[in-house]
Amino acid sequence: MCGIVGCILKDNEKAAPVLLECISKLEYRGYDSVGIATISDELNIKKGKGAIKEVNNELDLSDMPGNYGIAHTRWATHGKPSKENAHPQIDCSGKIAVVHNGIIRNYVTIRNELEKEGHVFKSQTDTEVIPHLIEKFMDKGLDLEKALRETIAILDGTYAIAAISVDEPNKIIATRKDSPLIVGVGDEQYFIASDAPAILDYTRTIFRPDEGDIVVLEPSGVTVKNKDDEIIEKEIFTIDWTPDMAEKGGYEYFMLKEINEQAEYIQNTLTQKENIEKIIEELEDINRICFVACGTSYHASLTGKYLIESLVGIPVDVILASEFKYSLNALNDKTLCIYISQSGETADTLDALKMAKPKSKTLGIVNVVGSAIATEADYVIYTHAGPEIGVAATKTYLCQLTAIYLFAALLSLKLAENNDDIDLTKTTDLLRQLDRVPEFIEEVLGQSDSIMKMAEKYKDKSDFFFIGRGYAYPIALEGALKLKEITYIHGEGYAAGELKHGPLALMDEGVPVVVVMPPGEDYDHTMSNLEEVKARNAEVIAVTTDDAEIKEDKADDIIGINPDVSEIIAPLVYIVPLQMFAYYVAIDKGCDPDKPRNLAKSVTVN
Ligand code: G6P
Repeated sequence: MCGIVGCILKDNEKAAPVLLECISKLEYRGYDSVGIATISDELNIKKGKGAIKEVNNELDLSDMPGNYGIAHTRWATHGKPSKENAHPQIDCSGKIAVVHNGIIRNYVTIRNELEKEGHVFKSQTDTEVIPHLIEKFMDKGLDLEKALRETIAILDGTYAIAAISVDEPNKIIATRKDSPLIVGVGDEQYFIASDAPAILDYTRTIFRPDEGDIVVLEPSGVTVKNKDDEIIEKEIFTIDWTPDMAEKGGYEYFMLKEINEQAEYIQNTLTQKENIEKIIEELEDINRICFVACGTSYHASLTGKYLIESLVGIPVDVILASEFKYSLNALNDKTLCIYISQSGETADTLDALKMAKPKSKTLGIVNVVGSAIATEADYVIYTHAGPEIGVAATKTYLCQLTAIYLFAALLSLKLAENNDDIDLTKTTDLLRQLDRVPEFIEEVLGQSDSIMKMAEKYKDKSDFFFIGRGYAYPIALEGALKLKEITYIHGEGYAAGELKHGPLALMDEGVPVVVVMPPGEDYDHTMSNLEEVKARNAEVIAVTTDDAEIKEDKADDIIGINPDVSEIIAPLVYIVPLQMFAYYVAIDKGCDPDKPRNLAKSVTVN
């Protein structure tokens, strides 16, 4: 997905070390190559293939003159990872440098035309057309700002762009469309970045440009012009994230830190109660809810379906954001579409929101304050999970779930005021249990030694199954996804009842099957599925209550959870040992759990 930053500092300060520090905080967005450009009297560029540390060891990226510049960390889409394809990309004259996050869909046509006009391209990237277009317009006499405006009028695609030119010293210009960009306003130092963690050490005062705004950073300050070229004021936010929230804090990897923070951050999400009550007050006569999301957020949404249908009785659909357009005709003003996204920037989810907005009510459940989905939706619930740096979602998932639990419980309380058919027993029970979730999670975190041993035992397996029923089904899906993402082991989540319709054929000697079976109405039924796989000599890891009567002949390993965690609350607790299991398998296999290959934290392309 790539990360971009830019900064302009006081005259006597060096930008390169600051850019290096900032871009390192965005490495979770892409890590196959990195580059920095600064301007002193001339354009200075250092870039190379590999993780930031490797490239820096080789090139000493902070050793560059100039008090302003731009930087990029790449997740390749067009052109394989290489020095030539790394950003910044430059024009023919070598005076203009550009960093870009997004995809330029019509780059082939533009490139062909520019080549006919004599421009020489050196990379396979879609991005390279941007510095050449800026060059073309500057050659016609336009200044950098106007040249960028003419350039974006030609581009079809998604972008956050920052550009500098030797011919216009002491200036960084930036713009965006469907890719995230923030502007940081510090004390005589100004920044642009794809995401807030990049600049937290320098400023927490930010704003987000709208699509088509052109932002100009100069030593004297920041100016923003809208699509009509008028100077505009932007709403300034103060980010409540502190710099240490985006540090490892003594943990070897962010993912482990984030798993361990979950009990604490859930409490932050619980503070959203009043906001959720207000939103529910305004949601008159909805008769259908659609959750729309991708990846882990999709699994949080599935839990939402079980909860809302069971507590409230309103029909709920859960739709993958990339498949959402096929459901548009079924929306109306009585439908509430809930968009779940930790980043608030996922392109598929954002597109789905834009498509549905004219037809239905929209609510975003989002972690990043002021992000695109938060801004676009009619209503927003912030999960307040703090910055999540590990690519595989953990604490943001639990905070999404917490927000969904609160929403479902509060919605049932509200609707029960005028509907005697709504039985509040489950809601009351749920609200009582929600308060104890942090305590249950802490107990699971205390089992890291035994989970570590289990990871060591199973690390060389090539295929895993995860099964569960009802509330345990999304847990199984998410457990399998975590394993896949960070260990590269094939993991498949299945509804336990579906085993007999296919996967039983794959059960064989030594195939590991993780059976998620919290206490509740599905327990016995899931136990019979456990027996079925065991009878076919599978290796069973049961995640169940620690007073369960599963003997060694049935399960090879057991992860025991407090018996007070009932099935309705299980998604918030039972996933934690599966996150830990995936993490320790990744460590045993020598994989970097924070930066899984080919994946990125925030997917701003579709
Ligand atoms: C990427 C991430 C996943 C995440 C998904 C949706 O694939 O690697 O961890 O679940 O995007 O992201 P969102 O920000 O919309 O929750």
